[in-house]
Amino acid sequence: MKTSLRLLLAMSLPALAVGLRAAPAAELWADQCASCHGEDGKAQTKQGKKLKIRDYSSAAVQAELKDDEMLKAILEGVTENGKERMKGYKDEMSNEEAKSLVAFIRSLKA
Ligand code: HEC
Repeated sequence: MKTSLRLLLAMSLPALAVGLRAAPAAELWADQCASCHGEDGKAQTKQGKKLKIRDYSSAAVQAELKDDEMLKAILEGVTENGKERMKGYKDEMSNEEAKSLVAFIRSLKA
């Protein structure tokens, strides 16, 4: 009961903002990405602040982001000076799911 309610909330809150089509990506985002990037992509989470993650709802940041680089980051991870900043998700999700997350991130633009 608790779990299903949580799942329902996780699915419906972002879905309300971006339309029902994005529900599966929204679910992935809520489950696997929001702890760092925040539900809204603003990264105003403990981890997001600690890791100084950019605000993906910002138009300026959206302009910096490139779809192919985002896809690569999601699948392969992000490293900076040899240090892992974000792990890659290629063992946990399909190419299609990763692509749907790229589209989802685009939908976070304010
Ligand atoms: C442990 C925290 C953490 C988690 C969990 C996490 N990320 Fe990240 N992510 C980061 C950090 C740190 C960066 C690099 C800093 C930045 O982009 O501002 C980053 C960068 C990115 C980028 C930008 C890549 C580029 O082109 O510059 C994308 C896209 C991204 N993450 C998507 C995701 C998705 C999708 C998920 C869930 C499947 C996810 N992240 C989960 C920490 C995380």
